[in-house]
Amino acid sequence: MYAQMVESGQAGTSDQDKAFQDKIDRNVRIEPRDWMPEGYRKTLIRQISQHAHSEIVGQLPEGNWITRAPSLQRKAILLAKVQDEAGHGLYLYCAAETLGVSRDELTEQLLSGKAKYSSIFNYPTLTWADVGMIGWLVDGAAIMNQVPLQRCSYGPYSRAMIRVCKEESFHQRQGFDIVRALVEGTEDQKAMAQDALNRWWWPAIMMFGPPDADSTHSEQSMKWGIKLNSNDELRQKFVDQTVPQAEWLGLTLPDPDLKWNEDRQSYDFGTPDWDEFFNVIKGNGICNRERLDARNKAWDDGAWFREGLMAHAEKTTKQNIAAE
Ligand SMILES: [Fe+2]
Ligand SMILES: [Fe+2]
Repeated sequence: MYAQMVESGQAGTSDQDKAFQDKIDRNVRIEPRDWMPEGYRKTLIRQISQHAHSEIVGQLPEGNWITRAPSLQRKAILLAKVQDEAGHGLYLYCAAETLGVSRDELTEQLLSGKAKYSSIFNYPTLTWADVGMIGWLVDGAAIMNQVPLQRCSYGPYSRAMIRVCKEESFHQRQGFDIVRALVEGTEDQKAMAQDALNRWWWPAIMMFGPPDADSTHSEQSMKWGIKLNSNDELRQKFVDQTVPQAEWLGLTLPDPDLKWNEDRQSYDFGTPDWDEFFNVIKGNGICNRERLDARNKAWDDGAWFREGLMAHAEKTTKQNIAAE
C-alpha cells in the first residue's frame, strides 16, 4: 500500500496538487491513505521523526537524576514524567510510520548520528535545580511549539499532539514546582536555582529555532499547514509568558536587554549566541556524544529481548497455523 502511495505521490498532477492545497486551505485533515505530494510526506517524516527522537533522547538528562531525586515523592513524579516522554516518542514513531517509513529505519538514523533531535538535550544536568529548569522552561517551550500543532494538517500528527500536550502541561507544572520549592528554601537552594536558570535560559530561547530570516523550509511548511507560527512569534510568546513567572519566583533572567516594551505590549530581549546553537547542532555540544552512546548502549543491551520477542511471535504463529 505504501509503495502505491509513494508512486501516486510522484505522479502528482497539477490537479492533484491543487485539490490537495484546497483541502488544507479548507482545514480538512490529510489522512495516511490520501494522496499527498512527496515533499509533504518527506517534510512530515523529517519533522515527526525529529520530534520523536527528541522525546527519546530527552529522557536522558532527567533520567540522570531519578536515583538522586531529593524525596520519594519527587522520585515518583520524575519517574512518571520520564515515562511520559518515552510514550511520546513511541506515539510519534507510530505517526511517522503511517507515512511509509519503519520505526527500525528511524531508530537506525538516530543511532548512527544521521538524524537530528532537539539540541537542548545536549546540555548536562549538573544539579537537581536543572531538573526543575527542564520542566519549567524546556517543557514550557515545547508546549508553546506543540499547542498549535494540534491543528496541523496531518491527522495522525495533530491527534498525537492533543494527547502529548496534556501531559506536557503536567511536566511544566512539576518543573515549576521544583523551582518554587528551591526558591522558598535556604539561600544555597535559591542560589542553585539561579545558577541553573542562568545556564538553561538561552538554550531554551534557542529551542524555537533560528530567527525567521534564517529559517529554511518555513514558507512551504506554513502553506502546507505543518508549521503554524513562525519561530520568532513563538519565541516572543514564550518570553512574555515566562518573565512574570521568573519575577514571581524572585529569580533574575540572565539577559541585560530584557525590558517591557509599552508600545508592543511585549518584552524586548537580547540575541542568543547562534554560533553556539549551530555548533551544538553540528554535534559539538557538551553531551552530544554521551547521549548517542547511551542510546546505542540501550539498543545493544536490548538485542536479546527483541530476539526473544521475535522467536516467541514466530512460535505462536506456527502453533496457531497448526491448530487451524
Ligand atoms: Fe514530551
Ligand atoms: Fe515533557
